[in-house]
Amino acid sequence: MTKKNQTLGEFIIENQSSFKYSSGELSKLINAIRLAAKVVNHEVNKAGLVDILGDAGDTNVQGEEQKKLDVFANEKFISTLKNREIVCGIASEEEDSFIAINSNDNKHQNKYVVLIDPLDGSSNVDVNVSVGTIFSIYRRVTPVGTPVTLADFLQPGNKQVAAGYVVYGTSTMLVYTTGDGVNGFTLNPALGTFYLSHPNMQFPETGKIYSVNEGNYVHFLQGVKDYIKYCQQEEGDRPYTSRYIGSLVSDFHRNMIKGGIYMYPKSSVTESGKLRLLYECNPMAFIAEQANGLAVGGKSRIMDIEPTELHQRVPFFCGSRKMVEKLQECLDKYH
Ligand code: AHG
Ligand code: MN
Ligand code: MN
Ligand code: MN
Repeated sequence: MTKKNQTLGEFIIENQSSFKYSSGELSKLINAIRLAAKVVNHEVNKAGLVDILGDAGDTNVQGEEQKKLDVFANEKFISTLKNREIVCGIASEEEDSFIAINSNDNKHQNKYVVLIDPLDGSSNVDVNVSVGTIFSIYRRVTPVGTPVTLADFLQPGNKQVAAGYVVYGTSTMLVYTTGDGVNGFTLNPALGTFYLSHPNMQFPETGKIYSVNEGNYVHFLQGVKDYIKYCQQEEGDRPYTSRYIGSLVSDFHRNMIKGGIYMYPKSSVTESGKLRLLYECNPMAFIAEQANGLAVGGKSRIMDIEPTELHQRVPFFCGSRKMVEKLQECLDKYH
């Protein structure tokens, strides 16, 4: 049952028994993410006052310049999860390979692995525009008691048991699903408590917003170009409105509330687009589908893609059902 203004802590306890696997481990895990999100939120909010803006001076495995806040958020999420010994492994955008967690008194006994994008939209952080965190949770496929392997992380999105994001925006929200709808919680910063503010979130069936980095237009495939032209045509409720923040979490969050479509296509210069399947596209796709939206990769459902690499990139189209269907129609013309 969802009650408005319930705290996230109360909500987790109340809904624990409805999880497919109700050992309490998943609840503890979401609690740990809640805690790490508050710590990162605190740092993001005072970013201009402390020496945490700008580049860290390193690049991650995908060749991206790491921001200081990328590194900070990565460390906070990893240490919070590690210290509580509630997952057997973590994979992160900012780590070359996965981290196996195994302490002396807990020999690989935990069942879950987490994949995270600790700070999403980090290019926006220096200019005071909202950023986010994305997480995806799976049950391990290898036996409990043995070390985790890459196979535990390379699972299709349809095997996720939970996924969510935090948006550090005008207010800070944690939005997540365990496969039973999507609920959004807003942080009261004075109390440090998340309250249920957006129960049962749903994408409107259709919308009027399209979000894409149009600067890359010349490199897009013809199907995407056709759909963008369709959005811009004067007919019926069109032209649509163009809105692109450049933080996936924030663009997605707005589109889920107002109705819209987000696109990061492949192009003639980026063979698979930019977004990462395991810790960006799959969790957002799970949330989208749980909120009556759709997420496709060009030909098929994002969550049915069999991953082959930890940092694999895929084209990503996601949002209001009717808009994604129309886009798919445009793409299908050329295949
Ligand atoms: P991250 O900051 O985690 O590396 O992700 C950046 C992603 C995503 O948040 C955003 O939608 C997209 O990159 C923006 O890319 P462009 O600047 O190429 O439009
Ligand atoms: Mn990055
Ligand atoms: Mn990201
Ligand atoms: Mn990131």
